[in-house]
Amino acid sequence: MGMGNAPIIILKEGTKRERGKDAQFNNITAAKAISDAVRSSLGPRGMDKMLVDSMGDVVITNDGVTILKEMDVQHPAAKMLVEVAKTQDAEVGDGTTTSVILAGELLKKATDLIDANVHPTIIANGYRLANEKAQEVLKNIAKKVTIDDEANLKLIAQTAMISKSVSGSREYFANMVVDAVKTVVDKDADGKYTVDLKNIQTVKKAGSRMDESYLVKGLIIDKEPVQPSMPKCVKDAKIALVDAAFEVKKTEIDAKIQITDPAQISAFVAEEENMLREMVDKIKSTGANVVFCQKGIDDLAQHFFSKAGIYACRRVKKSDMERLGRSTGANIINKIMEIDASDLGYAEKVELKKVEDEEMTFITGVKDPKTVSILVRGGTNHVADEVERSLVDAWSVVKVAIEDGMMVTGGGSTAMEIAMQLRDYAASVGGRAQIAIEAYASAMEVIPSTLAENAGHDPIDIVIEMRKQHKAGRKYDGFNPYTGKVEDMAALNVIEPYRIGKQAINSATDAAIMILRIDDVIAARGGGQPQGGDMPGMDDD
Ligand SMILES: Nc1ncnc2c1ncn2[C@@H]1O[C@H](COP(=O)(O)OP(=O)(O)O)[C@@H](O)[C@H]1O
Ligand SMILES: [Mg+2]
Repeated sequence: MGMGNAPIIILKEGTKRERGKDAQFNNITAAKAISDAVRSSLGPRGMDKMLVDSMGDVVITNDGVTILKEMDVQHPAAKMLVEVAKTQDAEVGDGTTTSVILAGELLKKATDLIDANVHPTIIANGYRLANEKAQEVLKNIAKKVTIDDEANLKLIAQTAMISKSVSGSREYFANMVVDAVKTVVDKDADGKYTVDLKNIQTVKKAGSRMDESYLVKGLIIDKEPVQPSMPKCVKDAKIALVDAAFEVKKTEIDAKIQITDPAQISAFVAEEENMLREMVDKIKSTGANVVFCQKGIDDLAQHFFSKAGIYACRRVKKSDMERLGRSTGANIINKIMEIDASDLGYAEKVELKKVEDEEMTFITGVKDPKTVSILVRGGTNHVADEVERSLVDAWSVVKVAIEDGMMVTGGGSTAMEIAMQLRDYAASVGGRAQIAIEAYASAMEVIPSTLAENAGHDPIDIVIEMRKQHKAGRKYDGFNPYTGKVEDMAALNVIEPYRIGKQAINSATDAAIMILRIDDVIAARGGGQPQGGDMPGMDDD
């Protein structure tokens, strides 16, 4: 039907279309460009990147997902790799660079096979088999780690921080992070541990060394009481959370008030004063001695609060109000005159503390002890931001290590062991899948070879040496970027949670297969750019 006749046009004019090897080639090129962009930041000797957005704001980071989020990636296949990083970030919180580099390398090895006329479907199938086998190997080499094994949990936190600028203080931060996660951990009826990271909060303040950051069991609210005459510290705090203003509403319509007698003026003022006094008295009558108000507090109301010895803060952020509610047990009330003693929350201490040039409120000894805050310090805002990102990585790995109860060794040792066992497996599979599984195995070696490259060593020499050691049964041998040698990572305490590898391998494989299977790219005008080389924001690498 219609064969050989004039083509039927089904696409809008201006639509770009690429098919077959062209489409594959361009997609793979774009995806590889993404992985090349983050490559140099992998590992302890990885470099940082400085990213400048269109507004001129600068971010300095070595965090894979942060780099990719800041880049304005256009190409659809490249975007898929950015998704890999985002998924890794959401599921594990670390290993984002690893996952993207792995996906890029799987595609690179696939290109070689496509050039040798292996059909992408065969590659995809081989990759799928290889992924299953890799997962099996990974599980077998993983070791147990329990919540009580603080020493190993701290080492896991340290490994996550080693490549970041906090590296010099990683022991200090590792202690803090393990303490934080263990404070908020939950255990369900089956004895399974879960960690809700929402219960760990950070407050950033530049102007001091990063190792002056500290952990508070409780909350830090970046607010001070509205009047200096208010108490600086309230013990046995009964806390009211108010989402209403302590103000007298001005009438909406322009009402004209005829005042004929001076006494009327004072009556009018007195009326306003009475209303404010009533509001404050109402709060006081509940026994509250601390008030967090999401809205404003009139000067006069401030004065009444102060006279009543109440610690009152205004314009508190909604998210802070919610956190205060959860941790102190207070109800957030909307109508001041309806507050009741049962709406109040409790904390052992509410205290004003000076942090640099600013004062903040510290709330400790709260009802729900599963609330912690970290005051993040750094010389400048950029440093404080990167400290915070490193802490997020660190508590994420401690969280998943506790939840899964499993860990593996790093430095490329696990990837190399998987590569080796995959090669044996490939031989046992045979047929056309064998060649794809072997390509997959070589792709796994990109982790140790990139670590070596970033440390200024010859990646080929390192990989060859590492293969030899793994053949000889030294399955924890990886690359030590500090000595430039292949060493036992277990002995060096370079350990990571099992989930980093599990997720990175899975999502890298999925993305690679998905990109490989595309042989037709149809793009509407203005919808992405199916040209590999044409990617704004990519020219910085
Ligand atoms: N002390 C170390 N020795 C060798 N490798 C290390 C060491 N610390 C971390 N690594 C390795 O660095 C890699 C992680 O680097 P990182 O820059 O944090 O990237 P990612 O975004 O993938 O987490 C992992 O392969 C990890 O095993
Ligand atoms: Mg990391």
